[in-house]
Amino acid sequence: MNNSQHVRALNDITGKQALVVGGGRGIGAAVVEALAELGADVVVVDTNRLPSAFNQYESTRVGGFVDAQKLTARLTEAGLSVRAVETDATDEAAVRRLYADLMRDVGRLDVVVNAFGVTHVSPVEQMELAEFQQVISGNLDGVFLSSKYALPLLRAAGGGAIVNFSSVSGRAGFGKVAHYCAAKFGVIGFTASLALEVAKDHIRVNAVCPGIIRTNMWRYLLSEFTRPGETEDECWERMRQMVPQRQTQTPQDIAQAVVFLACATKITGQAISVDGGMTAP
Ligand SMILES: NC(=O)c1ccc[n+]([C@@H]2O[C@H](COP(=O)([O-])OP(=O)(O)OC[C@H]3O[C@@H](n4cnc5c(N)ncnc54)[C@H](O)[C@@H]3O)[C@@H](O)[C@H]2O)c1
Repeated sequence: MNNSQHVRALNDITGKQALVVGGGRGIGAAVVEALAELGADVVVVDTNRLPSAFNQYESTRVGGFVDAQKLTARLTEAGLSVRAVETDATDEAAVRRLYADLMRDVGRLDVVVNAFGVTHVSPVEQMELAEFQQVISGNLDGVFLSSKYALPLLRAAGGGAIVNFSSVSGRAGFGKVAHYCAAKFGVIGFTASLALEVAKDHIRVNAVCPGIIRTNMWRYLLSEFTRPGETEDECWERMRQMVPQRQTQTPQDIAQAVVFLACATKITGQAISVDGGMTAP
C-alpha cells in the first residue's frame, strides 16, 4: 500500500456498525447521514419523551423518535443502511436493552456517537434544584450509560470509537446556562477518564465541542436571548459577530469532525472544538 492508499484506508468506514444516540434531528441527524453515506450501517437512536421539560422543547414530548423514523425512511429509500430504535439515553434499563439487542442481532459495534443533549435558560439565583439536576442528568447520564453498555460490543469488534458531544460551553462559561456548562465540562472530563481506562483495548473516546448551530437548541436559545426591540435574526447576527471567523457552523461541519474522530486511530482522550475560533486558547 502506498502512502495515500494507507491514509484512504484509515478513513474508510464502509461496512462499519455505527450507532448515533440523539440522531433523529439536528446535528445528530447530519452525523447519521454522513456515516450512512460513507457506507456504515447506522442505528439511529432517539426518543419521543424525556423525563422532564427542562430542555429546548420546554416539554417532555420531544418527538425525536418520530423524526428518527422519518430520517431512516428517507435514507433507506436512498439505498442506505439505517434503522431507528426508540430509547431514552437517561433510562438505564432501556440503554442496557438497546445494547443487549444489538449484541444479539449484530454481535459487535465499531462507532458510538452520543449526540443527544438538553439545555435550558435560567440565572443561578432563580434556578430550581430540579432544573439543575435534570439538565446535568440530560447531558451526562446518557453519556455514562451509553458508553458503559457499548463497551462490550466495541470489545467484541476488537476495538472502536466513542464520540461524545460537549460544546463551546464545555470550554468556557456562559451566563444563564451554568448547569449546561457544568454538564458539558463534565462530558470532557468523563471522556478523558474513560479514554485512559480503555486505551489498551483499542477503544478510543473523544469529544466534539460544537460552537453555534441553528438547530432546535438554538431556536430555543434565540427565543430566550433576543433583546427587546431585536428580532431573532438580529440576535443570531449578534451571535455570528461573536465568532472570530464571523461564520456560525452547520450540522455538517460538526459531522465532519465526528467522522474524523471515528477514524483517527491514534487520537484518544481529546476534545476537538468546531467553533470558528470562539474558544481558541
Ligand atoms: N446547536 C448548537 O449550537 C450546539 C452547540 C454546542 C453543542 N451542541 C450539542 O450538540 C448536541 C446536539 O444538539 P442539537 O443542536 O442537534 O439539538 P436538537 O434539539 O436539534 O437535537 C437533539 C436530539 O437529541 C435527542 N435527545 C435529547 N435527549 C435525549 C435522550 N435522553 N435520549 C435520546 N435522545 C435524546 C432529541 O430528541 C433530539 O432529537 C447536544 O449535545 C448539544 O448540547 C449543540
